[in-house]
Amino acid sequence: MLPTGEPSDISESTGKSPRRDGPAMPTGYESGEVQMCHTVHPWHSNHRGELSAGQLLTWIDTTACLAAERHAGVACVTASVDDIQIEETARVGQHICIKAKVNRAFNTSMEVGIKVAVEDPITNVQKHVCTAFSTYVAKPAGSKKVNLRPIRLQSSQDHLEYSLAAERRRIRLYHEDAYNNLMEEGCYVYDVDWENDNDKISTDSTRVESIELVLPPHANHQGNTFGGQIMAWMETVANISASRLCHAHATLKSVDMFKFRGPSTVGDRLMFRAIVNNTFQKSVEVGVRVEAYNCEEWTQGRARHINSAFLIYQALDNKEEHIMFPHVKPTTKDSVRRFCGAIARRKIRVARKYILTSKPQKPISHPWDRGNQGYLSYNNIAALTILAANSGWELSSTTQNIKIFTHEENDVLSIKVEMQVRVQPKQAYLLLSDLSLRPNWDMHYLSCEVVETAGEDDKIFYITCPPVKQSKSRDFVTLVSRRYPFKNGDPYIIAMRSVTLASCPPSVEYLRSEVQCAGFLIYTQGKDACRVSYLNQLTSGIMPYVEENLTGWSNSIEDTASACIRFLETAKVYTTLL
Ligand code: COA
Ligand code: ADP
Repeated sequence: MLPTGEPSDISESTGKSPRRDGPAMPTGYESGEVQMCHTVHPWHSNHRGELSAGQLLTWIDTTACLAAERHAGVACVTASVDDIQIEETARVGQHICIKAKVNRAFNTSMEVGIKVAVEDPITNVQKHVCTAFSTYVAKPAGSKKVNLRPIRLQSSQDHLEYSLAAERRRIRLYHEDAYNNLMEEGCYVYDVDWENDNDKISTDSTRVESIELVLPPHANHQGNTFGGQIMAWMETVANISASRLCHAHATLKSVDMFKFRGPSTVGDRLMFRAIVNNTFQKSVEVGVRVEAYNCEEWTQGRARHINSAFLIYQALDNKEEHIMFPHVKPTTKDSVRRFCGAIARRKIRVARKYILTSKPQKPISHPWDRGNQGYLSYNNIAALTILAANSGWELSSTTQNIKIFTHEENDVLSIKVEMQVRVQPKQAYLLLSDLSLRPNWDMHYLSCEVVETAGEDDKIFYITCPPVKQSKSRDFVTLVSRRYPFKNGDPYIIAMRSVTLASCPPSVEYLRSEVQCAGFLIYTQGKDACRVSYLNQLTSGIMPYVEENLTGWSNSIEDTASACIRFLETAKVYTTLL
């Protein structure tokens, strides 16, 4: 039997492995896991004593490549590294532990899942730094393609990762199309806030250029440059570029997918060019383009474009508070394109993060009973008011009368859809708070009926929604609480959250799903016009209905908002009540 990697494999008395038939195998051998541990030394860190992001990317790629090669049995190259969100900073003296494992072998490529943790030797506390997914292609000497054997699935986690890997691959390979779709939708420069900001600054000073010569230590035994080394060089120039904008030391928070378009080898000169593309309040996107030249190409000026990547930085001031980045002013045709590209990428990045890493959520619904009605109703209104008041809403798309924003906090993604409607605000309020009218304009509602009434302003609705992606139809039991403006200038509020109701138990026919915090705020804009803000803090039950939109595959949110505007502007139902 091979060792399992459990502590019980070590003999307690001697500290040595018990006698086995055959040589001892590395820990995690059976599960296919490869582990790498390092102490963070000053030479791995930046001026703040924090592990440099470039070093981290190098270790991630090395560990993942070793896992891939162990499965493939031949040399492998990095094809791409999916978006990485860095959640924790490691400091000098702490330990970095990286685990990598092949999740699925496709044909010639395989997905490797990587988990990075930081461990403090004094407190023994371990924290999650990031999760990453890289794709490696088996490439033995000579360029013959190798078809990979399937991986052995053992645990239920292996089975889960195997299924998810197929979904991640679909999104990964669609990445470029999703980006092009969003770019085709048009540019978002002409946002009113942006237009009115006279403090926009030029990004010219953030342009950085740097060259590297690939030497044997930068490459594998076949002479191919390590992907991790290239990522580390890219991070260095991107970091300098971001720091020039904020006049502070920038910290890498996330990277957009790294795609290795072509190989480079020992002897190549690699040219790195970086510039800030756009800023998003607390963060900045820097793009880096890498071109390779061999000696001959170098003299002839013929470059091979081998990589382009987009890195997101944040910066802290002396009080450890986020520095707010100024709006930037694109001045050339290229910089306008990149400015828009950054907005599209942000949209895809946010969506991918929440779609692909959706964590199981605790139940959201509270039971509805006579004792807690007042509390739930208050909580419903308060939660929506707080959500709307959050700072940091990022505009992700805009058309003439519809704007879509996203907001991220503590791993929760929320969306806001702002609609300009030519209708009296009170009429919009009455129409929208009667949820049973919603199937008239919202394609995501099949049916909606009142199942409990607690006064004029608090009703519980039973809602059914169509199936998405071969899953079952979903149903929701939702408390709708509404409030007239308290004083002039206050919005009309219609808040929604899930509750449980004994008379509406879950059924086998539907997948019971939940709404955490959603609803409408309606702001008066003259006698016959209003701004309707729809907000939703996305749950795993809502995500399937919006994920294609968030990744740029569909316009369902815009279409639903247009239908809502049409409905409000044409409905006559409530005019007599005004
Ligand atoms: N992300 C994930 N997988 C990708 C990919 C990407 N961006 N691009 C290609 N692939 C996968 C394909 O899906 C395919 O998988 P499958 O065989 O399992 O179905 C496999 O790679 C081969 O694709 P194909 O289109 O036949 O190959 P290609 O000619 O485009 O080559 C690479 C793909 C990655 C081998 C090639 O672009 C390359 O050599 N890149 C440089 C790799 C490198 O040297 N990295 C280290 C740093 S320089
Ligand atoms: P795109 O221009 O479509 O973004 P590229 O692959 O040409 O794609 O470039 C990727 C990123 O690299 C750009 O968004 C930009 O931030 C940066 N970049 C490209 N060319 C230069 C350059 N000449 N100088 C500085 N930065 C550059």
